[in-house]
Amino acid sequence: VAGPARWEYLPGKPADVWAYSDANAPDAAAQVPGPMLVGRVGDRVTVHLRNALPETTTIHWHGLKVPAAHDGSHVSQKPVMPGETFTYEFTLTDAGTFWFHPHLDSENQIERGLYAPIVVRGGGADDIDIDIEVDAERMFVLDDVKVESTGKLSETITPLDLMVGRLGNVLLVNGRKQPQLSTRAGARERWRLLNAANGTFFNVTLPGHKLRVIAWDGGLLPEPYETDTLVIAPGERYEVLVDLAGGDGDTLTLQTLFYDRGHDLPDFGPRPLLTLELDGAVTGPRPALPTKWGDVKALAVDASTPVRKLLLEEEEAATPADEPRFFINKEAFPDVTPISVGMDDLEIWEVTNDATMDHPFHLHGTFFQVLDQPVLGWKDTVNVPQKGTVRFAVRFDNPGAWMFHCHILEHADRGMMGLLDVKH
Ligand code: C2O
Ligand code: CU
Ligand code: CU
Repeated sequence: VAGPARWEYLPGKPADVWAYSDANAPDAAAQVPGPMLVGRVGDRVTVHLRNALPETTTIHWHGLKVPAAHDGSHVSQKPVMPGETFTYEFTLTDAGTFWFHPHLDSENQIERGLYAPIVVRGGGADDIDIDIEVDAERMFVLDDVKVESTGKLSETITPLDLMVGRLGNVLLVNGRKQPQLSTRAGARERWRLLNAANGTFFNVTLPGHKLRVIAWDGGLLPEPYETDTLVIAPGERYEVLVDLAGGDGDTLTLQTLFYDRGHDLPDFGPRPLLTLELDGAVTGPRPALPTKWGDVKALAVDASTPVRKLLLEEEEAATPADEPRFFINKEAFPDVTPISVGMDDLEIWEVTNDATMDHPFHLHGTFFQVLDQPVLGWKDTVNVPQKGTVRFAVRFDNPGAWMFHCHILEHADRGMMGLLDVKH
């Protein structure tokens, strides 16, 4: 159920939010983020959505390869009217970290609390995904909200918010400001990180620790890699393993660092996301890491592979009463020419960002492989840096009408969205 609810971003000061609740759960309480959907590859999923909001909505299953008619986008279904229901049905095809959210008025609906994580685990007993031995597995859904001193969500949307995506003053992990978790020194943990913010980028670091990145949007990488900091653009997901250093009684703080995404956004310095209290220690030898990781085959692109060019542009508001506009190949949604491809076609998409801020580019319906970089992996959302170009290879293996767009929701809702037809 999607409907109005109360949620405390500031302790003791509830805000009026919009949130998902699981009507089958014993307490059926609405929560931000919404109830996590957990399944295994091969599972058949049925979700009966009831719209208890005062406006139309849909659910989009970000990253899941669902049939086009169940994708919840503008082109896949009619809006679900207030008081109405819609049933989504699909089979889980890939292990990984995904999420669901509305695809109508998303800058407003997601900001108000309508988003929730999805975990899909591997399918068989011998699946690599479930072979990774850890002491704990956690989901961290990152977001930010603009909250007034009363605890209410601010209704004020500034021209800067429209230009760069709504900027919050409170950072959230799983709907809470700086939550405190308890764990043990020496623990190996698997963290699933997801950025559900409208426009805020996170640049995650755990001081004194390496993050071992094991998965991207579309599942496990063929080989993990280590990093000190991890930039997560809106819409993206990463999975990391961390070996927690320190002793019993220590406190570790997961932080986000400044990342320059353009438009002269201020550097707030390191900001805390959550704290981990080390209570006790893991004894005994650390479990061995798997020797085999994701089974990712490189798409066979070569000089003959067709290259499709997409140009991202922005236009500042002409007067204070106007809003900025955002374009893909000079067109602004809904006035766009759909791209048409054949089933199983292989293409290279070359996305050039002519703007002075980053735009995270998201494609529905299938995963792609980013080219010109050392790591091979599946993604559905990739950051295209300001004045930069990203190329990715994609095979269209899911027929129907799909969308692609910038995942800064204010941009998507102001034109930076396009249509793709994959013919049978
Ligand atoms: Cu997460 Cu079309 O979106
Ligand atoms: Cu999506
Ligand atoms: Cu954008």
